Amino acid sequence: MKCKIQIFLWAILTFPCTIITLDDHPLLLDCGANLESTDSSGRKWIPDSRFLTTNNHSLSSTAKSQDPSLPSTVPYMQSRIFKSQSTYTLPISPTSRHWLRLHFYPTSYAAALDPAAALFSVSAAGLTLLHNFSAAITAQALTQAYIIREYSLTTLNSPLLHLTFTPDPDHDRPNAFAFINGIEIIPIPEIFPPEYYSRAMQTMFRLNVGGRFIAADEDSGLTRTWHDDSPHIYGAGFGVTTRAGAGVAYPSRESRLAAPPDVYLTARSMGPNSTLNLNYNLTWILDVDANFSYLVRLHFCDFFFGKVNQMVFLIFINNQTVETDADVAAWAGGKGVPVYKDYEVRQNGHNQLWLALHPNVESKPQYYDSILNGIEVFKLNDTKGNLAGPNPIPSLKKDMSQDATATKFPSRSRKKSRLIVILASLLASVAVLVGLIAACFKQSSKGGAPWLPIYGGSSSSSQISSRLGEGLCRHFSIGEIRAATHGFSEACVVGVGGFGKVYRGCIDGNATEVAVKRANPSSQQGLHEFLNEIELLSKLRHRHLVSLIGACEENNEMVLVYDYMANGTLREHLYNINLNGNKGWSDHLSWKQRLGICIGAARGIHYLHTGAKHPIIHRDVKTTNILLDDKWVAKVSDFGLSKARHALDQAHVSTAVKGSFGYLDPEYYRRQQLTDKSDVYSFGVVLFEVLCARPAIDAGRPREQLCLADWAVASYRKGAMEEMIDPSIRGEINAECLKRYTETAVKCLSEDSIDRPSMGEVLRNLEHCLKLQSGGEEEEQHSVNDAAFADVLETQGR
Ligand SMILES: *[C@@H]1O[C@H](CO)[C@@H](O)[C@H](O)[C@H]1NC(C)=O
Ligand SMILES: *[C@@H]1O[C@H](CO)[C@@H](O)[C@H](O)[C@H]1NC(C)=O
Ligand SMILES: *[C@@H]1O[C@H](CO)[C@@H](O)[C@H](O)[C@H]1NC(C)=O
Repeated sequence: MKCKIQIFLWAILTFPCTIITLDDHPLLLDCGANLESTDSSGRKWIPDSRFLTTNNHSLSSTAKSQDPSLPSTVPYMQSRIFKSQSTYTLPISPTSRHWLRLHFYPTSYAAALDPAAALFSVSAAGLTLLHNFSAAITAQALTQAYIIREYSLTTLNSPLLHLTFTPDPDHDRPNAFAFINGIEIIPIPEIFPPEYYSRAMQTMFRLNVGGRFIAADEDSGLTRTWHDDSPHIYGAGFGVTTRAGAGVAYPSRESRLAAPPDVYLTARSMGPNSTLNLNYNLTWILDVDANFSYLVRLHFCDFFFGKVNQMVFLIFINNQTVETDADVAAWAGGKGVPVYKDYEVRQNGHNQLWLALHPNVESKPQYYDSILNGIEVFKLNDTKGNLAGPNPIPSLKKDMSQDATATKFPSRSRKKSRLIVILASLLASVAVLVGLIAACFKQSSKGGAPWLPIYGGSSSSSQISSRLGEGLCRHFSIGEIRAATHGFSEACVVGVGGFGKVYRGCIDGNATEVAVKRANPSSQQGLHEFLNEIELLSKLRHRHLVSLIGACEENNEMVLVYDYMANGTLREHLYNINLNGNKGWSDHLSWKQRLGICIGAARGIHYLHTGAKHPIIHRDVKTTNILLDDKWVAKVSDFGLSKARHALDQAHVSTAVKGSFGYLDPEYYRRQQLTDKSDVYSFGVVLFEVLCARPAIDAGRPREQLCLADWAVASYRKGAMEEMIDPSIRGEINAECLKRYTETAVKCLSEDSIDRPSMGEVLRNLEHCLKLQSGGEEEEQHSVNDAAFADVLETQGR
């Protein structure tokens, strides 16, 4: 007995305070469940029924379907449904603060109630947490399958917490009901300053700036989740992200509670170029509810400077200067020492919170730069004890079309999601096949089908006309297009894509060979992606991007005209197969040719990321979208899915996951947050495809070889890369070159986007590979344009 006590004391003395001050009695309720169960991260959830004290008309019900994005079946697949006001009475620990997390999965339940009729209020500890809340509308607006609401409640005065659910019937929904899937009550130490001891809060944002998603089980006992900040960055000024290798020097035990090391190790700063930094603000925009006050907590940790007045910057919140001389080194007192600052902001009438950083010139720091590691935003209860905001308005800007591959995916379990990716890819290829067959039938039966009735012919025409008017591209008549393609002759077809067929043709009296892309009128996605392609391509000009010559919209036809690429797609050459599945090209590509093509494609993508006015994410990098002209110059094509970065920022959290299976960034799939690193991932797959001449997904192979990315990385780790290499080039490759090339490709395929190189770094590595392969001899055509890139490359790394 005595011995036990001693061990316990020893444990108290040696373990950091996070373990002992967190009274370890979290309460996790799996609402509507009959038995205890464990979620995917090993946390135990218990049935809720014994805590229901007033329980007039409640029932438990099971969800009819399981959305693939649910991180775990527990607590989402079971729900508790209330048809009248009902209260849980929950025992709480004697600490001053608790997280209360509410989990909602708005879907159809076996109880056969209309999910849209779920409209309700939730109150606890004298506070209104939710009012007229529709989980379905909220989920739709956020493009998420489930919703987690996190509140921090002050709980010193009572050993019990009363949590009440009340249906809010209205004129349209007289039978409104309330529901809940999971409730978490987690005791936490007081992490807010004394003036907030009486305030309750709702967590609005918790962002790991410049870093990766951090799951609840990676954040000590506080079980917070931290998200990537990049979807919230405004405009093109993304700055640079950095990751320190060394440990974080927490100044005290309490300071460990502020944020886990991963938040402080990664940062976003403006970049090494002072002139550029003076021209922009590093800006985040966060959607909040109007007419509330917010506590904004900014986390800083500087691993690079460490001396006072080396980097001094201004901090603006909603256009007001909240800090004129932010000097992280002065605040923290050393390199790698974390520090955070709290600001209270009143959002009068505005529902966007702007945070901006800018170098302070007046204090004459050594560097004009600024840095941030983490952002937390908490909504504060108002004087009436209210925390509830209105339901969001689902945005019409979001992707309206949902293709077979579009699924929402913020998941916690990596292995699982990868598996689902593979399964989904199989399903998707089946779906695509079925879709293609259906489309063929539809087209042949309808003949010249009209343009997308949902949009209306006239509106689509005017959209195109206006874009043609403002862009640089040429307007063709349908007569010219018909003449160029011999009346869309089948003999002229050189390719088929999701949008329709591509024809080879000649314009201007046979002077110019062109590729004519004719939209398939039965493709609903067509219009959107067509407009997108015109919009982006008419503004972009680069040696390694296909050029759009012009477009035609007339007689319900929509046609894009490009430079003709005599050598087709990179894919055809890797497998030596042309469109019809026949052996098409006589010679295989040499290793040096392949390197040259990869370098060209990397330049094209790098230009998209950094060279255009607004950075553009391609979203569908693959070997069929890398085209080759008559001189074997690689050109990146197909911008139907591409997004300008600034357009994404406005989409709040995410966009529907799109892209091609086998090339799809697993992190994007999990978090639905698109970054330029998603293109880097896809390009990593391309690099292995080029080296091995094996497709990105090969359903005919055993499971561990199904997905080229997984197989290649596993082979690389086992040192068995050689066996995977395309036999027709195996003998040609210089060993040093191969090492550098595979290292680069493996880095591109890192699970976490933060570990992947930028496209600029990939490009430099590939150029180095070519030097190694050429044995130092000066290489020929590849030095074109380098001067233009040097500057961009400089600003990339630090
Ligand atoms: C940065 O933001 C502040 C506050 O909104 C504004 O006054 C200033 O003009 C901005 N600077 C730049 C370069 O955009
Ligand atoms: C915020 O308050 C203003 C002024 O009282 C009011 O006009 C506005 O409608 C309120 N906004 C919301 C979203 O409640
Ligand atoms: C909400 O905040 C106010 C301060 O504005 C505080 O006085 C009050 O006690 C809080 N209400 C509740 C119910 O916690």
